[in-house]
Amino acid sequence: MVFLFKGGTLVTSNGKMLQDVRVEEGKIVEIGSDLKVNDGEEVIDCTGKFILPGVIDVHVHLREPGGEHKEDFESGTKAASAGGVTMVLDMPNNSPAVISQKALEEKRALVNDKAQVDYDLYMGATFDPKTGKTNVGEFLKSDAVALKIYVGSSTGNLLVHQKEALEEIFEKVAEADRLICVHAEDEALIKEHMAQFEGEDDPIIHAQIRDDEVAYRAVKLVLHLAKKHGTRLHIAHLSTTKELREFEEFKSDRISCEVTPHHLFLNQLELREQGNFAKMNPPLRTEEDQAALMEGLRSGLVNMVATDHAPHTKEEKEKGYWEAPAGVPGLETMLPLLLDAVNHGELELEDVVRVTSEEPARVFELEIGLEKGKAANFTVVDMDLVQTVENGGSGARYTKCGWSPFAGHKLKGWPVMTVVKGEIVFGEAD
Ligand code: DOR
Ligand code: ZN
Repeated sequence: MVFLFKGGTLVTSNGKMLQDVRVEEGKIVEIGSDLKVNDGEEVIDCTGKFILPGVIDVHVHLREPGGEHKEDFESGTKAASAGGVTMVLDMPNNSPAVISQKALEEKRALVNDKAQVDYDLYMGATFDPKTGKTNVGEFLKSDAVALKIYVGSSTGNLLVHQKEALEEIFEKVAEADRLICVHAEDEALIKEHMAQFEGEDDPIIHAQIRDDEVAYRAVKLVLHLAKKHGTRLHIAHLSTTKELREFEEFKSDRISCEVTPHHLFLNQLELREQGNFAKMNPPLRTEEDQAALMEGLRSGLVNMVATDHAPHTKEEKEKGYWEAPAGVPGLETMLPLLLDAVNHGELELEDVVRVTSEEPARVFELEIGLEKGKAANFTVVDMDLVQTVENGGSGARYTKCGWSPFAGHKLKGWPVMTVVKGEIVFGEAD
């Protein structure tokens, strides 16, 4: 099947250009203005629409294996495609956790045929204090996209907070020039705070238990380790002004960070409104933090936006504070939220491309881009389409959990077609 996407405006971080795109056998074969329609090709009218290079979400939890009642690879990647996301990088905090090459291969075999978009998988770091051994050797012989280290505990049981273990991992990963991705929250301080709030059950305490000092201490530690050993480091879901200022001192081609849509567009007052439905790790912050993250996106300090799509069922979220799991879905709303911010003048469309496609591709070494010869992965967006996010509807239609922390948000700018390896995986050719 040959497709000719006609009349759309291509966007890169360098600017916009009215161009047609011809796609054949999964690849972009031609880009140019006013391309001639050849016999037998299907023309897709993109007049008035924008074409963005494949949106890559480097941080998702699609819950397979072990959490299929929350999400599975089919529902999760369907949600991705509806959100205009053409590639996801899936986290290892499964059950069983992905901590060996064997587990990684088993996961690939399990999910491969279910994936509706491109994907790759992380391996999780472990340390056994009894034997003094880490699993860094397993990672180094694996083809995992990166090694995920939880230096503070979150959902699942992955955790490496011991200094000597972290030193060893950062050193060996640096020698092999592989990539580490860190969930940076300080385990000891979380425990200390938990003890202080024992007996209380108001979700609002979440922001205090995992306050900005919790994040700052861990971020500082891993930045110093990465600098000392020359390790390639990506910091997940940076959420506070304090972390951002520290990150600024260390940022380089080898040291990057992401922010999430929920830390950009929601703040801790939501814990009052939504209770545990607004509980995630790290927690929502203040309005000042939101503004600092947005400024970081504009200036280029923040490398990328990633969802940390972490669905849990309504029943699980309705439990008390201590039992309710942390995490919110985000795959179907990330791009609409960013496009809405463009329509409000907070960002440029060029910024959106940089933080959802170009920087993720650079940091994670993925071959994505609107160029002849590359895979035909792109998203057609309608900047004038207005839809309100609704539980079970727009923005939360395909995720199994069926709800969104952004329900009620009226957003202008939505993906209308998602193309992965030349196939239309979301939207209709009309
Ligand atoms: O809120 C979160 N949920 N943060 C994490 O680090 C893990 C995630 C999950 O898997 O539920
Ligand atoms: Zn996560």
